[in-house]
Amino acid sequence: MTRIVEWDRKELGLYRDEVLDVYAAAMEVPPSSARTRRPIISSHLERNGLRAIAATDDDGQLVGIAYGYVGERGQWWHDQVRRALSAEVANRWLDGAFEVCELHVRPSLQRTGLGRALLDRLLDGPPAPTAILTTPDRETRARAFYRGGGWVDLVRDLVFPGDPRAFAVLGKDLHA
Ligand SMILES: CC(C)(COP(=O)(O)OP(=O)(O)OC[C@H]1O[C@@H](n2cnc3c(N)ncnc32)[C@H](O)[C@@H]1OP(=O)(O)O)[C@@H](O)C(=O)NCCC(=O)NCCS
Repeated sequence: MTRIVEWDRKELGLYRDEVLDVYAAAMEVPPSSARTRRPIISSHLERNGLRAIAATDDDGQLVGIAYGYVGERGQWWHDQVRRALSAEVANRWLDGAFEVCELHVRPSLQRTGLGRALLDRLLDGPPAPTAILTTPDRETRARAFYRGGGWVDLVRDLVFPGDPRAFAVLGKDLHA
């Protein structure tokens, strides 16, 4: 049976490699390339409003993860997204928003409702009016998943420095 638990900052730090192994499996990239993201998770551990929700199987293995925090100016991702939004849209959607950093489910458990359960739990409670995330701007599983969950496109075709892919910025009203 799959078990869903909330992790504190210390646990997220402790299980960084397991999180990146789930990321690698879900994104279909080699675990060694996913592990290069370790410093990114480390840099998130002290962020304001950090929440992490983990799913484990009967053997205690991590099978899904969702985490995020309340973003602020001066943080790389936040500033990149702010630059892409009009002042009005940034004011409505980005100021004080809960930023969803990672949401990944092992392929064998995808389409079983686990992604939805992790995200619902993650967004149930952060002291934020909205949630925001970026995802590749293609017809991926994630795109269909977010659309079904009530997320709306705020900007399309956003390119981050050092990454040739186009991203979409999605927002969700947490008080709707
Ligand atoms: C995106 C992801 C987290 C979704 O998790 P999941 O556990 O497979 O999704 P769920 O089973 O909770 O799906 C909930 C709903 O989302 C939609 N959905 C999910 N996967 C879908 C797909 N492949 N195609 C179409 N709709 C999909 C459906 O409406 C689904 O409900 P239904 O199964 O009753 O039709 C998962 O596919 C994943 O880890 N993908 C790779 C990593 C990734 O892209 N993460 C997001 C990065 S921004």
